[in-house]
Parts: sequence; structure tokens; C-alpha cells
Amino acid sequence: MRIVLENIKELVQVADCTVKYKAGQDMSVLNVMRDAYLVMRDGIIEGFGPMDHLNDEKLDNDVLMELDCSGRLVFPAYCDPHTHLVFPASREQEFVDRINGLSYQEIARRGGGILNSAKTLQAYSEDELFDASMKRLHEIALLGTGALEIKSGYGLTTESELKMLRVIRRLKETSPMVIKSTFLGAHAIPEIYLSDRQKYIEMIVHEMIPQVAAEELADYIDVFCDLGFFTPIETEQILMAGIKYGLRPKIHANELGFSGGVQVGVKYNALSVDHLEYVGDDEIQFLKGTETMPVVLPGAAFFLNMPQSPVRQMITAGLPVALASDFNPGSSPSGNMNFVQSLGCINYKMTPEETVNATTINAAYAMGVEGICGSICEGKLGNLFITRELPGYASVPYYFGSNLIETVILDGEFI
Ligand code: NIG
Ligand code: FE
Repeated sequence: MRIVLENIKELVQVADCTVKYKAGQDMSVLNVMRDAYLVMRDGIIEGFGPMDHLNDEKLDNDVLMELDCSGRLVFPAYCDPHTHLVFPASREQEFVDRINGLSYQEIARRGGGILNSAKTLQAYSEDELFDASMKRLHEIALLGTGALEIKSGYGLTTESELKMLRVIRRLKETSPMVIKSTFLGAHAIPEIYLSDRQKYIEMIVHEMIPQVAAEELADYIDVFCDLGFFTPIETEQILMAGIKYGLRPKIHANELGFSGGVQVGVKYNALSVDHLEYVGDDEIQFLKGTETMPVVLPGAAFFLNMPQSPVRQMITAGLPVALASDFNPGSSPSGNMNFVQSLGCINYKMTPEETVNATTINAAYAMGVEGICGSICEGKLGNLFITRELPGYASVPYYFGSNLIETVILDGEFI
């Protein structure tokens, strides 16, 4: 079964997949083919090229559908390499509390924040969590996301962490999205362990990680290595245990201060270090020449009114950057990667070329799917979206807050 897209005004992020993607390729370059066609078969990109190269020989009677994309742009679907999409309920009261002057950390210290969600989650059945998460997944698919990473971390007991990870597994099995799952038992110290933190860490190391691994429930391991959460020494203990079971780190670092998280992440060859509001020369030097992708979460900094990550300095220093939504009920209740692109341009002074790279190929790398997603090339998944008629790819970040997407195709399926 084939789908043919014709008269595409701009086919964005075309790539030669015989060249292996390496973190650190020039982010200012975006390859765009104008007046193009694209053919996919059974959900895989079979070919693309200039429109005048599309002739009848390429189209046999196996063509399912021809779609005229005149005036429209075609992008590879977004990859969102950092989300907490599986959560029980929204937290509007904390939003109002922050408007009235409380900080995110103060709310957390009073048992709100992550602990609030963890309490609510205990009462949710696996089915209820699955249904709530599936709705969010559908919502972000319509906004152009085709691949995402989802973390546990609102369980904070063995049973509830496993419940979250089983929900993620069901989402993987039933959704047309590409999904990676991350075990984040070290998201916060539960209240009952506050006087004996080490006991909770021992539970993560000796109970949770072995069970997660036994059921093959996670691809990666995460720790919230930040001021008031987990220290670098605690983070090392947890990462070493995860690595022993084949879980590569992908950690939260330097959101609330110079936590040492970047250094720990690099030391353990993390696939990514995420947040990075507090990054200086030392962190940049640590990241240079490594296989660790810096991931910035503009939605969280925007929603919490936090200092912004020095993205321009990182890019100028030669680092690659990926952007993610951080979709979660506390610090970023939005999974809209179009808006993330707008924030990248407006708040971080990234160019549209850089934000497209940061939300597609770099983001794919940051979740370990750069071989199948994140660019338009032969053999990759035909996960893509088609915009309405627009002047060009810079229109996406420009029209902040609008949904310019008319059609989303994931796994050969129209969403
Ligand atoms: O990525 N920073 C840690 N965790 C989440 C927030 C979780 C929450 O507030 O529920 C984040 O921002
Ligand atoms: Fe997060």
C-alpha cells in the first residue's frame, strides 16, 4: 500500500541516511527540497525527489492514495525526547499558588509537586492511567508529534512505578507513535523516607531496578539530580545500578541550580542531560566532544518563569541542542512541540533552522531513535505532518500558539 504526496511546496529536513547522524552536526543547516514529491509504502519512506522526477513508472497500481500538497509544507513528525505524559491528574491549584507568590520549590517542600501527583497516582488503576494517557497521546499526535520518550516517576513505590511503566508499555503496543520508556524512581524522595533518604535509594537500587529490568519495562534510567532532590553522589549510586541492568542514563540536571548533574551525566555516558537552566563554561566543557545530547525544555522555563538555559552559548561553543516539551502536570502542562519551536526562537534566540533540527533529528538522537525517525530519508518511518498553505518553514515558530497542521500520518495511518 502506497501513499504519494505530490506538489509539496517545502519538504523539510531531507537527509541522506547512508551518512550516520552524529550529535554535533551543524545546527544552522536545514535541508529543504522545494516542489517535491514523497512516496511511502506500508508506513516507510520509499522515495522522494523533485516533482518533475515523479513519473508514472514510479506509480504502479499499488498506489493507495495521491495527496496534492500544493502550497503546503511537509515535516518529519516531531520527536519529543523528554515527557512525563503518564500522570494521574492536572495540578491547577499549584498553578494558582505560584501566581499568588509561592515558588515551585516551596510547593514541593510542602508536599505538593511531584509528591502530590504520586499520592493521587496510588488511587488510579492501570486502566484509568492508560485511558488518561492515551487521550494525551492523541492530542499531541494531532499537534505533529510522532515519537516520544515517557518517564515513570509519579509512583515512588515499587508497585506504582511498575504500574506506570506497564502503562507506557501498553501505549507502545497500541499507539502508532514510536515510544521509549524511562524509569524515574528517583524523581523525589517520598515523605516517609525524608529522615532516611538512603533507605529509599536502596529500595530503588535493590528492588525497583531489578524488577523493572526483569519485566523489560524500561529503555533508560533517569534521576532528578538537582538542588533539593538527588545529590550527584546519590545519582551515581542509582545510575550505576541501572547501567548494570543495561539501562542507559538520561537525566534531569541543572534545572534549579549548578547541581553537578551535567558532570555526572557525562561521566556515565548519558544519552542526554535535560533542563540545563544553570549551565556555565564548566558544564559546556564537560559536554564537548561527548555522546551526550543537551536537551532544553523551554515549556518548563516558560511555565515556571525560570532563568533560561544559555542555548546560544552552547551552540556557539559547538554543542548540539535538542528541545523537548517536558509534558507534565507541574512544570509544563503542554506537549505542543510547535509552541516549543516558537519558544526556542523567541526566548532562546534560536533560528528556525536550529529549532527544526532541535525538535527532529537532534531530538530523535536524544531518545535513541535517530535511525528510524527525525528526518525525511529513504527507509525511515513515514511519520510526518502536512501544514496548511504557508510561506515557508519559519511560519511554524512564527505563528506561536496556532495549530498550522492539517494532516498527520503515523505508521501509514491518518490520525
Ligand atoms: O521535568 N524536574 C523534575 N520533574 C518534572 C516536573 C515534575 C512535576 O512537577 O510534576 C520536570 O519539570
Ligand atoms: Fe522532566
